[in-house]
Amino acid sequence: MEKKTSAYSGFHKLLIKERLKVLSDFCDLSYETIQIFEDLATLAPERLVAIGENPISNYELPLRLVNYFQINKKWLYVPIAVEEASVVAGACYASKVCGEVSAKVDKSKSYVVGQVQLIEVTDPEKAKNTILENKRYLLDKANEKHNFSRAYDLEVKEFNLPLGKTLVVNLFIDPGDAMGTAVASEMGEVIAPELTKLTGYLYNARIISNYSGRLTWAEVRIPLDRLARETKTDDNKTMRWSGEEVRDRILWLYQWAEEDPDRAVTHNKGIMNGVDGVALATGNDWRAVEIANARYAQRTGQYKPLSKWYSEGDFLVGELEMLIPCGIVGGEIKRFPKAEKIIKEVLKVRSADELAEIMAGIGLVQNYAALSMLATIGISKGHRPFR
Ligand code: MEV
Repeated sequence: MEKKTSAYSGFHKLLIKERLKVLSDFCDLSYETIQIFEDLATLAPERLVAIGENPISNYELPLRLVNYFQINKKWLYVPIAVEEASVVAGACYASKVCGEVSAKVDKSKSYVVGQVQLIEVTDPEKAKNTILENKRYLLDKANEKHNFSRAYDLEVKEFNLPLGKTLVVNLFIDPGDAMGTAVASEMGEVIAPELTKLTGYLYNARIISNYSGRLTWAEVRIPLDRLARETKTDDNKTMRWSGEEVRDRILWLYQWAEEDPDRAVTHNKGIMNGVDGVALATGNDWRAVEIANARYAQRTGQYKPLSKWYSEGDFLVGELEMLIPCGIVGGEIKRFPKAEKIIKEVLKVRSADELAEIMAGIGLVQNYAALSMLATIGISKGHRPFR
């Protein structure tokens, strides 16, 4: 019998129905399965087609709201797209306990990096000097076709590879209100031939470095009396933790994460539960947020928690610092009407910095939800909605 393969030239030109038929023949799908793909496609076929590349349906995630959330003097219902109900139950509980979040993007440390690689470099020193002497010219070239984003600096790095020497030009870009992925590669594409003209070396890749984003800080200051918790055990006994007990247990948990990268990863997962959900709901690239912070958490040489928790007088204080690559224009946002409405009409953010602040704020609150649950009632109980 001839082996079935997925080699199908022109697959992208098929109608959705035809593509489903091909899949059905290949996987021996039942009529019922096909119905699930068709009936649960909430986007009309024309819109699915417009979204592009081989759609057969759209994938549904619940869009949930976090209430009680206050940030920088603003009350919000924050939309989160996430499969896990307990993430949002946790965020609602924690928003109520944490109270107002303060958050700020550090403009001086927020940028997108566009990278251009030069290969087969024989005299890196000379090429590096030539590039730096022509910095202003290269920056002006990069900015020629961009009104809302601006390349403002560049650096040159040298690496010795098994194949030979390579030079990498890092272009530092203020992406305005875009996330900056397209801008970074477009600017790289414009300066790459110029670099070749100046140095005589071949250019290779022109691409964003995903170690980019808006460096965003968020803080909560929680009065001890708000921390107290209680729960009923399965045999109906009441367990109680005072504010001081909850604080101390959270500090034990956080300080463990500072020393043990295996725990720090899980600590940061709690933060990303919230941040990724908002990234998804707003049409942002959550993989970019994940990967930027995987490196950011490692910036001292050891993988660390992205947040800090400490005691100050009668308060438990939580601070979070992370990279938020996000935008409110460009990218995929326009193709997803819900994302656009969430940005403009639900969150009513006027800048990408404001969105980054909300994302970091939700991350911190989500972190508190996880720590307070683990330090008291435990995850099995905590993963049921706990209010
Ligand atoms: C589960 O999705 C997230 C937690 O594991 C985070 C943590 O352990 O801090 C609860």
